[in-house]
Amino acid sequence: MTLQSLTIRRPDDWHVHLRDGEMLERVARHTSKQFARAIIMPNLVPPVTSVDAASAYRDRIRAASGEGFEPLITAYLTDEADPAELARGFEEKIWVAAKLYPAGATTNSASGVTNIRNIYPALEKMQAIGMVLCVHGEVTDPEIDVFDREGVFIDRVLEPLVDDFPDLKIVFEHITTAEAADFVRDAPATVAATITPQHLHINRNALFAGGLRPHAYCLPVAKREHHRLAVRAAAVSGSAKFFLGTDSAPHARSAKESACGCAGIFNAPYAMESYAAVFEEEDALDRLEGFASEHGPNFYGVPLNEDRVTLERVDQIVPEEVGGLVPFHAGETLKWRFAGG
Ligand code: DOR
Ligand code: ZN
Repeated sequence: MTLQSLTIRRPDDWHVHLRDGEMLERVARHTSKQFARAIIMPNLVPPVTSVDAASAYRDRIRAASGEGFEPLITAYLTDEADPAELARGFEEKIWVAAKLYPAGATTNSASGVTNIRNIYPALEKMQAIGMVLCVHGEVTDPEIDVFDREGVFIDRVLEPLVDDFPDLKIVFEHITTAEAADFVRDAPATVAATITPQHLHINRNALFAGGLRPHAYCLPVAKREHHRLAVRAAAVSGSAKFFLGTDSAPHARSAKESACGCAGIFNAPYAMESYAAVFEEEDALDRLEGFASEHGPNFYGVPLNEDRVTLERVDQIVPEEVGGLVPFHAGETLKWRFAGG
């Protein structure tokens, strides 16, 4: 008999961009509706580098997202990252992790790290205190083909990093390739990965389907079909190393539909529906709860959520716009509906 509804522990989103100001007001409740907690990425302008900035940002998110949602703040690592400031924010429970953006890799990463060696003192401290390192895993070398930048990052940066910091907890964010899935699977238990809805649903053809499709563009960019299938296999494998991180990254419609369109897919409004579609297609709905609600908290060392949410089997057409933004799956029919707790 076909399953008509699915009740699971409330999920968390281990990678999201909520922005600030008016955009924060527009998007925050889409995330807080589905998820109990979320790792908030710090790529604002200026970036979130100080404890005070992080604390004020957390207050603004709490105000915008409403009751019952806990934003988990991250620090933005620059070449000047201060180990003492990182430790202070961690001890005061203002932030739980720090994000490594290679300088120039993506949206608002200009203040990012130019050479991983520059943050070795910060990483030593993070390793010592148990603070998680979130990694945007792409090299920025213009000589490297954009579709190869994740694979080359593994060889040039991530492998040496894991060797040099055997006790540092590392999340390889939004993996897009078979190489990344294999690397994480075979790495020590200190290494995990988040997986987005879009990298489970689309391959690089989606960027060029009948014309240039800016709403399918994100970074890391979607890859060939065999990579999508490998990332899917990792997500539904049941391995505790892989967990949910939407990378929902809203940009104004005009900034997407532009001669130089911004990278980012706004998937928050239908995130759980999107993941459920994949797990059902892979005949793995029984593994959705681990991926969405258990593996992430266990890796970060925080308690599981106690309340439950239900997904119902109801067709719903995703609107062309949500709050003036174009959502992932716009115009498509999704077979599940998030019905809350
Ligand atoms: O597509 C992306 N959008 N990838 C990122 O790494 C950053 C994000 C954003 O902030 O817009
Ligand atoms: Zn991101």
